[in-house]
Amino acid sequence: MFQLSPEGKQKILAELKRYESKQSAVLPALYIGQRENKGYITPAVIEELSRVMEIPESQINEVFTFYSMYNKKSVGKHHVQVCRTLSCMLNGAAELSQHLCNELNVQLDQVTADGRFTISEVECLGSCGTAPMMQVGDKYYENLTPESAMNLLRAMK
Ligand code: FES
Repeated sequence: MFQLSPEGKQKILAELKRYESKQSAVLPALYIGQRENKGYITPAVIEELSRVMEIPESQINEVFTFYSMYNKKSVGKHHVQVCRTLSCMLNGAAELSQHLCNELNVQLDQVTADGRFTISEVECLGSCGTAPMMQVGDKYYENLTPESAMNLLRAMK
């Protein structure tokens, strides 16, 4: 069973007041639910959001399954999202993510043995001019090389 914190519930209720349609608040509500559930969404999170928002679970599920920014399984403490779209790919994103996986001894989308990292490849993060880049948590890291990216992760340990 999952239950939102009082703060999380208040944030979602505040989001609901911002829109005419409750469905418009599903995106931020999922984001809040994900944060409060250690970085991923489960059926119990959907159930809780449905209860708090007073909308059917199916309306939350259809948003959840459409967007890749919501995680369907657990991720490491630091979720490293490497952009794999055109500008980043042309500037070495595949080598970058492969280097991180090799250094951390993990496959894409798996959690490292120490629970600290998950490396994922994602679509364009809107920072194409500074390719290749990655997002970790809420922060962007840009103009990366495989080595500079790994040094950034080492500093997060
Ligand atoms: S292509 Fe990587 S941020 Fe846009």
